[in-house]
Amino acid sequence: MAALPVSAPVGVIGAGAMGAGIAQVAAQAGYPVLLFDAMVGAVEKGLARIAKGLDRQVERGKLSPTDREALLGRITPAHSLEELAPARLVIEAIVEDLKVKCDVFEQIERSCGDDVILATNTSSLSITAIGASLKRPARLAGMHFFNPAPVMKLVEVVSGIDTDPQVAQLIYDTAKAWGKLPVHVKSTPGFIVNRVARPFYAEGLRVLQEGAADAVTIDALLQEAGGFPMGPFELMDLIGHDVNFAVTGSVFTAYFHDQRFQPSLLQQELVSAGYLGRKTGRGFHFYEHEAGKSHTRPATAEPARAPSAVMVAGNLGVAEPLMALMQAAGIQLEHQEGPGLIHIGATAVALTDGRFATQRAAVDNISDLALFDLALDYAKASRIALAPADQASPAALEAAVGLFQALGKQVSVIDDIPGLVVMRTVCMLANEGADTVNQGVCDAASVDIAMRNGVNYPRGPLAWAEAIGLPGVLQVLDNLAATYGEDRYRASPLLRRKVYGGRTFHD
Ligand code: NAI
Repeated sequence: MAALPVSAPVGVIGAGAMGAGIAQVAAQAGYPVLLFDAMVGAVEKGLARIAKGLDRQVERGKLSPTDREALLGRITPAHSLEELAPARLVIEAIVEDLKVKCDVFEQIERSCGDDVILATNTSSLSITAIGASLKRPARLAGMHFFNPAPVMKLVEVVSGIDTDPQVAQLIYDTAKAWGKLPVHVKSTPGFIVNRVARPFYAEGLRVLQEGAADAVTIDALLQEAGGFPMGPFELMDLIGHDVNFAVTGSVFTAYFHDQRFQPSLLQQELVSAGYLGRKTGRGFHFYEHEAGKSHTRPATAEPARAPSAVMVAGNLGVAEPLMALMQAAGIQLEHQEGPGLIHIGATAVALTDGRFATQRAAVDNISDLALFDLALDYAKASRIALAPADQASPAALEAAVGLFQALGKQVSVIDDIPGLVVMRTVCMLANEGADTVNQGVCDAASVDIAMRNGVNYPRGPLAWAEAIGLPGVLQVLDNLAATYGEDRYRASPLLRRKVYGGRTFHD
């Protein structure tokens, strides 16, 4: 089925943050839009917000004044739901309440023709449950935009149990015609993004709860080594802990208390205290003193002596780019067979495999061991985490710090924790993505498209897992599961199968 014809009117219900943005997107693509809101003055407010956004585009030379006028001219205020009658597609973006949404759709079914297509922008309600109250549930699908809708490319097109595949396809094709990147999703709690993103917060919270690093350091590592646009604590502070905690709680409940989605006591404490993030001046960070910036600095090691020579035993796997960096830093390199260790004299440095450094030091009989974290791009990363084994001497840690400083990195020494910060987060994101695919919610490509374009991850979690090497990711997860003994870290069956089959997620 092709996209809705450009002459077909689009109805948008709700002129708040999302509805106004969606109306703008449709009008920008040339479609006539009818915009309705139950609150007096809300449509005018929404239109004013759209106009303000367009003014900025005109100022920056991205939109001509004529196109601005034409775009605004395509959005017509509607004064009742009946006035949406000519619409061929009606997108609802009202309050997140099942009963209210069902009532509105029932009215739309009455006032629009039988062939009207219904879409809901809900982030958390079941499309199947909304459809159940309708005369024609086959005509309803989710059309989940991300905030701000005119900027964010992703649209999750969500099919409930009764959604006609042709209806979902029309919404998909229409989103594409509107310049978006749509993905097909089966109606399940959190769809793709709000489900797969949970470990980004959860693993940061776990590392903090176990006292391995403070919030500022964890944020810095995920940004500077992981390449994420924001660290989890900064992001939760921005979203608001009330909102973020509620989403985590609703996903946890919706998955019948699967430990994967267990909320954090630390975040609950903040919510109880009323420290909701930026909007209250305090969350994990403090915002009272300076506009939007916390004063604390990430833990950063003092300068240590650079090694003049190292012995590399075996292949460093995903950290292999360190070889070129060491060479460029003028460090003399020697090679021998081995399990992927960098020896600086008696000190050994290795990439985390999801075990404690302390455990590896004991098992492999290397007391002077320090583990380093995953980086998105070892050449570009400006910071890296190091965790020394409990057995390691201060001199061994200093040697490891000196090595990474010689490669131009700031070093954050954190307490020994399995999987450090970036590695455990990325492996858990990939694991959730794999489970999402395994349960038939969407395909592998959609997971990566969704996470890159819905929450701006620097790389899709499944593609990232492939770059690490799926056997390595499985090893990290199995080691985390063995250490914690928690169901939360169980590896996705799909990941295990791909490893044994020698396949990737994308073949
Ligand atoms: P909002 O509070 O900014 O706007 C909602 C608008 O709907 C208000 O103007 C309100 O007057 C109107 N409204 C409420 N009940 C109505 C009714 N019965 N009939 C007509 N209009 C009614 O909310 P926002 O943030 O735009 O969210 C709307 C929907 O989009 C919700 O389902 C939300 O879960 C979803 N969503 C929100 C995102 C966000 O980041 N804010 C992202 C993606 C989805």
